Amino acid sequence: MIWHPFTRQLGEGEPLKIVRGQGEYLYDATGKKLIDAIASWWTVIHGHNHPHIVEAIRRQLETLDHVMLAGFTHENAEVVAYKLLAISDKIFERVFFSDNGSTAVEVMLKLALQYWHNLAQPQKQEIIHFSSAYHGDTVGAMSVAGSSLFNAPFSSLLFHSPCFKYPCKEDDPSLEELERYLKMHSNETAAIIVEPLIAAVSGMQFQESDALKRIEDLARRFDVLLLFDEVFTGMGRVGSGNYFAYQKSATKPDIIAVAKGLTGGALPLAATLVNEKVYREFLSDEPLRAFYHGHTMTGNPLGCAAAVASLELFEKEDRLKGVMDLETHMRALWNSIAIRHGDKISAPRSMGAVSAADVNPRSEKSGYTFSASLHFREMARKQGVILRPLGNVLYVTPPYNISKEALEAVFDVLDELLTNYAD
Ligand SMILES: Cc1ncc(COP(=O)(O)O)c(C=O)c1O
Repeated sequence: MIWHPFTRQLGEGEPLKIVRGQGEYLYDATGKKLIDAIASWWTVIHGHNHPHIVEAIRRQLETLDHVMLAGFTHENAEVVAYKLLAISDKIFERVFFSDNGSTAVEVMLKLALQYWHNLAQPQKQEIIHFSSAYHGDTVGAMSVAGSSLFNAPFSSLLFHSPCFKYPCKEDDPSLEELERYLKMHSNETAAIIVEPLIAAVSGMQFQESDALKRIEDLARRFDVLLLFDEVFTGMGRVGSGNYFAYQKSATKPDIIAVAKGLTGGALPLAATLVNEKVYREFLSDEPLRAFYHGHTMTGNPLGCAAAVASLELFEKEDRLKGVMDLETHMRALWNSIAIRHGDKISAPRSMGAVSAADVNPRSEKSGYTFSASLHFREMARKQGVILRPLGNVLYVTPPYNISKEALEAVFDVLDELLTNYAD
């Protein structure tokens, strides 16, 4: 009946029916408990069914289910916007709501183009992206992604977007190439879009802050907008006491896209945050300068209630500090695995609530088609842990407040998977 996302229609086995969630655990129909080590596609940052979020949604449902956001406003949308601007060091001016990471990215791309249009520079139309990028599954988001098996069938739909290798280090030659390109083409370039500090879907590639700073510097020198896709990295994910990767790297993007952990995973909601420089060009009563974009459920009161509660939990439960402790713990756990399985994995790495390592492929191909990936997923599930390797990259992105005991159980399973790998 159901066509499951990102799933081959044959050969991946039956989907597991989940009936309940609590904290870091999901329970299947037989009552078996599984540790959600990837926080349900990186959303459930405070654990499943956190009582504070559940209660906020319940209370909201008693008073207002939905109202459209064109021509109307409501308390929860205002509080979410206020809180997002407050945790962003006040570098942004406005919050545009939508429903998921892809739409938040589409909004970001469209705002960037219309910014130049409103400034009477419509020739600035190109968006530069990086090779390993993933920004979502809508057509605009796919156009600014690295080419992959995800977007290959749709190449005729995608708009032209110059691509440079994702620079992980400050001295990456791709930054020189980008500079050379901008010297020639800044007049046609509207913006640069980047996944700051971590390129997630392409295999949890970590980027040094200095590389991101050089991208920022180029954007400023050549007068192009800087767009950060913080769908994965935002809401405390990157650690060191920061809500966003731009804070951790001391950079200042013009627009950011936020989703995933925004509601603590309870309901779909996304936001695109825009600075004053960009917003100013829309501040007009001329019909042609308005931004004609909006999804039906934009700013839904229930989603906003969940987001308010999720943002409150960062304060109430000192979540950013929790992410720092989690990072320390995960780094130590990977290190001990690396000592035992140094021949089978490389580049164990941890940043905030993200921990990953590359499995050294034997005879198989690495990348998304790495054949052991499905096997790892199934073996982990049998042992009560939900993992979803990205090709040959094993990673853990648990709820930020996962218990020590559950986290250690996850790494025990990783240890066992590696012990049995290619033996
Ligand atoms: C960096 C990044 N941007 C955008 C998206 C798309 O978000 P969504 O799946 O909510 O559309 C994702 C999803 O994984 C992501 O990791």
